Amino acid sequence: MGETLISVPDIPLSSGIGRGIPVVGLGTAADPPVAFEVIRNAVLEAIEVGYRHFDTAALYNSEQPLGEAVAEAIRRGLIKSREELFITSKLWCSDAHPEHVEVNPCWQQKKLREFCRENGILVVAYAALGAVGTFYGTNRVMESEVLKEVADARGKTIPEVCLRWAYEQGIGVLVKSFNKDRMKQNLQLFSWELSEEESKKISEIPQSRACLVLGLGTAAFPPVEPEIVKQAVLEAIKLGYRHFDTAPVYQTEQVLGEAIAAALALGLIKSRDELFVTSKLNLKLEYLDLYLVHWPVCLKPGSFEYPSKLENILSLDIKSVWTAMEECQTLGLAKSIGVSNFSCKKLGDILAFSKTPPSVNQVELNPCWQQRKLLKFCKANGIVVAAFSPLGAVGTSWGSNRVMESDVLQEIAKAKCKSVAQICLRWGYEQGAVVVMKSFNKERLKANADIFNWELSEEESKKISDIPQSRGHRGEEFISPDGPIKSLEEFWDGEL
Ligand SMILES: NC(=O)c1ccc[n+]([C@@H]2O[C@H](COP(=O)([O-])OP(=O)(O)OC[C@H]3O[C@@H](n4cnc5c(N)ncnc54)[C@H](OP(=O)(O)O)[C@@H]3O)[C@@H](O)[C@H]2O)c1
Repeated sequence: MGETLISVPDIPLSSGIGRGIPVVGLGTAADPPVAFEVIRNAVLEAIEVGYRHFDTAALYNSEQPLGEAVAEAIRRGLIKSREELFITSKLWCSDAHPEHVEVNPCWQQKKLREFCRENGILVVAYAALGAVGTFYGTNRVMESEVLKEVADARGKTIPEVCLRWAYEQGIGVLVKSFNKDRMKQNLQLFSWELSEEESKKISEIPQSRACLVLGLGTAAFPPVEPEIVKQAVLEAIKLGYRHFDTAPVYQTEQVLGEAIAAALALGLIKSRDELFVTSKLNLKLEYLDLYLVHWPVCLKPGSFEYPSKLENILSLDIKSVWTAMEECQTLGLAKSIGVSNFSCKKLGDILAFSKTPPSVNQVELNPCWQQRKLLKFCKANGIVVAAFSPLGAVGTSWGSNRVMESDVLQEIAKAKCKSVAQICLRWGYEQGAVVVMKSFNKERLKANADIFNWELSEEESKKISDIPQSRGHRGEEFISPDGPIKSLEEFWDGEL
């Protein structure tokens, strides 16, 4: 196997942290969707062939099989460690909100809540009970004397007082309990209220830092058996919970999915749409090499369908989103950060305020949509362009066969004894771009990586540069005269 391994060159990224980005990556967005095992096996085969760069996104449902394939590749000795790979994922538009914050009676965030109220941003409180027992929480809420006094006088528990208080502040609350009685108790907040005097007492508690109305958090530290989480979620759904919060670091994503499937099978809910599920990155990996803002779009929290419904589109606060991305990098969760589907103008907006500029812009790029202006802009600003749909995304709902069936490309391919796919990928590489191609077929995977020991002639490049140009993946689903993005012209800032 050693001899057949194809070695793919790297391009360094502006972050200067971690490894460079291999110029050919394997995409994992399959349309129509394929089974978990198909993605997992394709990634394993790709690693075997020599691929070291993988592209996924929260939207593609491929983060988890990719994560499992990586773990399996290490077990099988195909790679020695995670560090040999370069993995990109993307923030889905419904997570482009900065509103999940710690709020509880000991950290009331009055200024932030006021600001959010004025700007129509819903605040969702985590650590509503002070996150007692977790590595990030303390017992100062659960052991607050003021709260104990109020609770005792009313025959309530401190959590009940905290949750009622949050509800009266007009904010959403996330609360974690895997205990059936407590879950029940935590929902008992709608039939009573705090008196003015009690609210006043709570508002005077000394302050320090440590969706939908009530969500069930699933982070347990140390982690618990998946079956416990599954039963807890099922109980919660039976009790009326409809909002669940998870993340890969909690190791509860898969089991939450299983519990939801079980709830559907048991008829506890009629459809997935009844639930509001919040997650973060979905890979069982400690860090990402590259984390991208998937589109310059903000969707209502929880809207995960694609194409999205027009009424779910909100205006994007890119400054807050980018600042949160910068924080991800500072925390070491992503070695590099970048964007996807951003025009020169939108990149310029980020460059104007960012502390860390985007390392990468992942965009549609192929011989039928060459993006010369964007390539030039990115080069001048040290931003690597990663090409998605380098083969025109043949066979998917967002692509067409115009690239694979281009007469010009077919002619060049025939004359060079190469495939059209190889011509496209070599062309992308010669433009200085990283190409992210999807194939789940082992033979095509191999052939598609075989682009480094030959080149296009000047004449061939010229012929390709004369191919008529048009954008394939236009993002029409985000445009509406009544929404925040009124026209394609505005969305792409004229780059059409
Ligand atoms: N950031 C974004 O907004 C965005 C948007 C779209 C895509 N992406 C990323 O970019 C990746 C690649 O783009 P894409 O999937 O849109 O399109 P693509 O790579 O241009 O085309 C994929 C299609 O081409 C087929 N194919 C691959 N090699 C071939 C060959 N040698 N001959 C004939 N057909 C071949 C594949 O089928 P087989 O699997 O059967 O080989 C698949 O149906 C995605 O998977 C995703 O990771 C990102």
